[in-house]
Amino acid sequence: MKVTIKAAAERRIRGRYPFGHRGDILDAEAGIGAGEVVDVYAQSGPFLGRGYFNPDGATPLRMLTTRREHIDEGFYRARIRGALARREGRIVGTDALRVLHGEADGTPGIVADLFGTVLSVQFRNAGVERHRAQIVRALQAETGASAAFERSDTGERAREGLEQQVGALWGELPEQVNFYEDDLELSFQPFAAQKTGFYLDQRDNRRLMRGLVKEGEGFLDVYAYTGGFSLHAARAGARPLAIDQDDAALGALEGAARANRVSVGLRLGDALEVLRTLESEKQSFGAAVIDPPTLAKRRDDIPKAKRIFTEGATRALRMLKPGGVLLVSTCAHYIRVEDLLDAARVAASEAECDAEVIGTTYQPADHPHLLSVPESLYLKSILLQKE
Ligand SMILES: C[S@@+](CC[C@H](N)C(=O)[O-])C[C@H]1O[C@@H](n2cnc3c(N)ncnc32)[C@H](O)[C@@H]1O
Repeated sequence: MKVTIKAAAERRIRGRYPFGHRGDILDAEAGIGAGEVVDVYAQSGPFLGRGYFNPDGATPLRMLTTRREHIDEGFYRARIRGALARREGRIVGTDALRVLHGEADGTPGIVADLFGTVLSVQFRNAGVERHRAQIVRALQAETGASAAFERSDTGERAREGLEQQVGALWGELPEQVNFYEDDLELSFQPFAAQKTGFYLDQRDNRRLMRGLVKEGEGFLDVYAYTGGFSLHAARAGARPLAIDQDDAALGALEGAARANRVSVGLRLGDALEVLRTLESEKQSFGAAVIDPPTLAKRRDDIPKAKRIFTEGATRALRMLKPGGVLLVSTCAHYIRVEDLLDAARVAASEAECDAEVIGTTYQPADHPHLLSVPESLYLKSILLQKE
């Protein structure tokens, strides 16, 4: 089957940008099934490569290769091998890592996180759905995971016209998936946890904050999930307080704190409301992190997201001791470091203080940011120190 793209999109596709948007498609052969692999041609005639095509998808074309190669189990195995090789030696101190990060690993629509010997997978588009049997065999062979499950309950599937799907993929799936991050024993329940189970992308920031907290001082963990930041801070002797609206996540954090023999305070509820309460209680902290969910799924969401960052940072800065540090993170591609800085600037003014920007961080090496895929840069954080 053949798809032709317009001249304007050709340069992007030649520059390895993997997405063909609706307006980029000049012509598609009749009868292409959702997610079928097609040959992609430029308007001027030359062959550009192969990709998945979903006539009804929000993003119809997802490029896979610039060559005339078969998209089969061997193709997926080679891509997984490449991804594992790129990560070799770059992720240390843990047995959990992201093995495949979608387009940035040349595997559009596949996200796979390995926790110890258990693999957690998401199939996010019609192309990978069509090839799921080959992909599952390839993942099993290349990762050597003893068991795997899928958490294909993501918003992206709905935009591809696919049902949500959750279940075991192979092996004997434990009720609880165990792994470690530095000296912390961590776990989650495969079908009760958020996303793939755990936010591996904040690993480096958790370590960064652990190095900055002070013994005996309060640590404010806003949007804590299962409290990765809190557990690290507690290990360093701080007194964490974790806020999240997910009851099950805070329950899991309680269990993890017990298992690791540390103590973490919990507040269930909307983050901004809890922050207002803490402020009225005149609480104070030596360090804080604000790590909300994706607040901007589209460009239009940016102003609202900035307002949430501003209120959160204002309240956190007011409760921080002089010299205390605040990490503000965004996992939304559309929110730039500059947006975080803008929000922080307004927040500092509201809190009637100043702060130094002592760091800017990005996602870790197992969540690659590929130059040709601007969308693959998503996790950005600024680190502030209150004057
Ligand atoms: C990106 S995750 C946080 C990950 C966490 N910091 C970690 O290191 O594992 C965002 C969290 O925000 C929580 N959340 C979303 N909206 C919220 C709200 N309005 N108030 C409180 N928590 C919220 C979600 O339940 C989720 O656990």
